[in-house]
Amino acid sequence: MRLDGQRGVELEAGGQPKQWGNYCGRMVHSFNPLVTTMDNSKQPGERPDQIVPAAKEKNRRSFFAILAGAIAMLGPIGAGICTFLSPLFRQTQSPAVRVGLLSQVPDDGEPHFFSVVTDWQDAWNRYPRQKIGAVYLIRQPGANAPIAFTAKCPHAGCSIGYSAAEGVFKCPCHTSVFNIDGTRAQGDEEVAPRDMDLLDVSLEELAVEGGDPVIEIWVNFVDYQTGRSTKMPTT
Ligand code: FES
Repeated sequence: MRLDGQRGVELEAGGQPKQWGNYCGRMVHSFNPLVTTMDNSKQPGERPDQIVPAAKEKNRRSFFAILAGAIAMLGPIGAGICTFLSPLFRQTQSPAVRVGLLSQVPDDGEPHFFSVVTDWQDAWNRYPRQKIGAVYLIRQPGANAPIAFTAKCPHAGCSIGYSAAEGVFKCPCHTSVFNIDGTRAQGDEEVAPRDMDLLDVSLEELAVEGGDPVIEIWVNFVDYQTGRSTKMPTT
């Protein structure tokens, strides 16, 4: 038996390759699990070009099956995450809070203290009737509506008191004094870095059958940062 050193096939007399290609193809197909197809139309000595390894095909199908499963699972998981985080992106609640009735604030030019109580809601929980601050309402003689100052000191957040005897606001923590119009008694010499914070006020009339209308006082309550010379909301 002679062998062609380059092609690795057995040669017959005269140097022609022996006719054992089909037989070899069937043998390989029968015993080699990696071979799934064989082009038997090839001439002896020609190399088959349509061989697909079975294990490789199986791996490819497994990969796509896993990929499809992962994509199918991502939908519900993503929806769950969005639902959980959605409160973070909800619009914040209105700052308007009903603080009292106009009849509770006589037009005597004196400060009247009111707590600001409202339902409070964070990203996931709701807390009914929480005290979130306090205001002074002042209604000048003949004025229809009062003005409102927050009672939180702009220096470090202590609750400002009112001295009726002296006609000024006083902070108990670091001796800041404010005039009745909310300005600092000593201007920039005062410890507090800015005047008392003025808040927007609106009135709402409720019709009462057979009686005088009831007028509610609503305040746009904003909690401002302390220690700054300018007003900046905390949230
Ligand atoms: S907290 Fe009011 S003066 Fe410091």
